[in-house]
Amino acid sequence: MINTNQKTVGIDDIALYVPKLFISALGEFAAARNIEPAKLSRGIGVEKMAVPDAHEDAATMAAMSVLELMKRNHLKPEQIGRIYLGTESGVDESKAMGTYVIGMLEKVYGKGAFQECSTVEFKSACIGATHALENVSYWLQSLDDEEYVGDENGVKGDDSGKENGVGMVGIVVASDIARYELNSPGEYTQGAGSISMLIKRNPRFLAFDSNFGVCTRDENDFFRPIGMTFAIVNGKYSNYCYLSAMQDAFESYRRRTLNRGTISLNEGECLTDHLSHMVFHIPYPRMAEYAASAIFRLEWRDAPRWQAISEAVGDEPLPEMFQSLDEYLSADNQFRRKFTNTDEFQLAFLQKVKPSTLISSQVGNIYTGSIYLGLTSLLEQSLLHPGQWVGFGSYGSGCTAMFFSGVVQPGIKSLASINVFNRLKKRTEISLDDYQLLHEGQKMTSIISPSDEFVLLKVGQDGYRHYDFVS
Ligand code: CAA
Repeated sequence: MINTNQKTVGIDDIALYVPKLFISALGEFAAARNIEPAKLSRGIGVEKMAVPDAHEDAATMAAMSVLELMKRNHLKPEQIGRIYLGTESGVDESKAMGTYVIGMLEKVYGKGAFQECSTVEFKSACIGATHALENVSYWLQSLDDEEYVGDENGVKGDDSGKENGVGMVGIVVASDIARYELNSPGEYTQGAGSISMLIKRNPRFLAFDSNFGVCTRDENDFFRPIGMTFAIVNGKYSNYCYLSAMQDAFESYRRRTLNRGTISLNEGECLTDHLSHMVFHIPYPRMAEYAASAIFRLEWRDAPRWQAISEAVGDEPLPEMFQSLDEYLSADNQFRRKFTNTDEFQLAFLQKVKPSTLISSQVGNIYTGSIYLGLTSLLEQSLLHPGQWVGFGSYGSGCTAMFFSGVVQPGIKSLASINVFNRLKKRTEISLDDYQLLHEGQKMTSIISPSDEFVLLKVGQDGYRHYDFVS
């Protein structure tokens, strides 16, 4: 039995925007970079990477997913108290991206429509949207009844026409363009897209239990100094930072969850036995496997089941047994390969983790939204059922990891599909030449003429960005 917080808050619905263009990682790209396609499809787990067109940026993508969320849920602007946005693809050093997004939405809803909505840009690499989610959740919990109910503009009706509760709502937006230098090892972990989540009391989809485990450190695994277009990436070290911080965040989460009595464990049980799904930050799908391995090793090594595992794969290497971090990482990688081949790992991974990576393999990294792309993968494959407990492992370089959880709600059955797989099939594949021109900002006209969407018209001489809605 999982106890959620009394004022239940969580995700009510999700909307996704993915650019209409993609490059196949396995065709011309792999050949031009002299990489075996199997390395990308199996070693990295990526088949296609979404590419923004010339008229798109992180702000237009954000506005697209918010607009879809508002339309799906018949939301009026005055019901939305917060639009908190996580991004590491900021378009301005000072002005919040959310103000550009609101400017675009007002092209549709009318000038001043969002005047009483707060917006903040959360920059914390790939964990920005998770910080936004935590903050919007606390805001909704903190409202007194009068503030919460608002006026006659409460939330009315979902797609099925049923009453969907009344009250203020918040929207969390994740929007990013993952872009690395041409010919770099990061290049095959690119992607782009935006996710918007409707955060409500008594949500239809998923209610958080307010156990947020955190680990923060000062690391140089991945950062983008002011003025630079591309991040500085210490690739393999960034994997290590992700996994080590994720383990510490999980420890912090486990301590809080057990201390607060959210769940109690019987002899020999592990907390992850009770999580039906575990959704991690997915910079590339293979990373979710590494993360699963790190968390299961952490949990299982003190459980009776470890005896059979260690008989099969030998003893785990420990950092103190090695002279340098590199030597330890190399031994640990070898152990990880053996561990991930065990039946125990394969069973848990295939059931609890792998299904969340499906959309990422077709879209690539969308940085701060990629963990919620994982959640969308589960939703769209109809793998989420009322009462299931879902764990989330979020990571942002620099670095912070957070582990938290939520319970799938009965209302999930009334959620309309966002039809993501059909939408992905309708995208247009572009050539390597067009991809490279777009990547370097040298393609001045759109490959697909915009229609029914927000566009970046121009960047003025003063740097102010001009957007419009093109019908
Ligand atoms: N067939 C099948 N698999 C193959 C293969 C082949 N022909 N050739 C290689 N592989 C396998 C390798 O064996 C390896 O798998 P194992 O770990 O099981 O051994 C896998 O492919 C990856 O290959 P490499 O170890 O050679 O890794 P790489 O040099 O290609 O670099 C990377 C990978 C470090 C992730 C690089 O792409 C990168 O720097 N990416 C950007 C940074 C990043 O995404 N970091 C992730 C953590 S930080 C984070 O999460 C924040 C964020 O979003 C950026």
